[in-house]
Amino acid sequence: MRNETTTSVWDPVVRVGHGLLIVGFATAYLTEGKPAWLHEWSGYGLAAVVALRIVWGFVGPRHARFGEFVVSPVAGLRYLRDLVTFRAPRHLGHSPAGGLMVLALLASLLTTTVTGVAYLGMSRDRGPLSPWLGAEAAAQIAAMPPGAEETREIRRRRPGRWMKEIHEIAANATLALVLLHVGGVLLASVVHRENLPRAMVTGRKRATP
Ligand code: HEM
Ligand code: HEM
Repeated sequence: MRNETTTSVWDPVVRVGHGLLIVGFATAYLTEGKPAWLHEWSGYGLAAVVALRIVWGFVGPRHARFGEFVVSPVAGLRYLRDLVTFRAPRHLGHSPAGGLMVLALLASLLTTTVTGVAYLGMSRDRGPLSPWLGAEAAAQIAAMPPGAEETREIRRRRPGRWMKEIHEIAANATLALVLLHVGGVLLASVVHRENLPRAMVTGRKRATP
């Protein structure tokens, strides 16, 4: 199959963005908040990539555009049914189910990063949302002896713990979506006899159906 004609599908913004999402998500998930600088900066990086990808979904080339691959949930489910029975048609860009998964991943990543930033502001009066959410934490820190911020007792009494819970749930929901995403990619690779992860790296796919 080495000499078959290929065509360019994924542009460099999509490919580099995808690579950064993998590295950023693995870093943010595995650091679980510590060390704080690495966790927070990988999170900000992810938010930037997601924001760029959303803009690209409106102004980017054909296969990157939401208008090309966002379909109704019914069409997505129908495609999934056909995929598990090995009857699904091949798509050069995102499949109907793949397109919906792109939206779900972007929305879940956005929720995780926004709740992370919100919790940082509420619990420690730090980060971009601290002017709006940090008053309670600022008062708590002002009342503490110097250097007491990281003691176990203070950690337990930090304001905004409910936001931490939501942040953790959002992070785990994103992980669940990622696992489904990778499972779907592998299944579609088998059904259509093509290496989709490699196509995401090279940008090229088989031109013939
Ligand atoms: C090693 C693990 C991963 C593999 C093998 C993989 C593979 C792929 C492939 C092959 C596609 C193209 C799907 C298609 O052909 O329609 C894709 C798209 C995508 N993946 Fe992954 N992925 C991985 C991890 C992740 C992670 C961790 C995230 C996010 C946290 C992610 C988010 C996305 C998004 C947003 C797209 C849409 C790309 C775009 O249109 O910009 N992936 N992935
Ligand atoms: C997709 C990106 C992110 C993922 C996957 C993620 C994941 C996690 C996880 C799994 C935890 C542990 C939760 C727990 O122990 O209850 C955590 C904690 C935390 N995250 Fe994130 N996070 C992300 C982005 C962010 C961002 C952007 C910020 C702020 C700038 C942030 C701030 C925090 C803070 C302050 C904690 C609590 C640390 C502690 O008290 O031990 N996160 N995050």
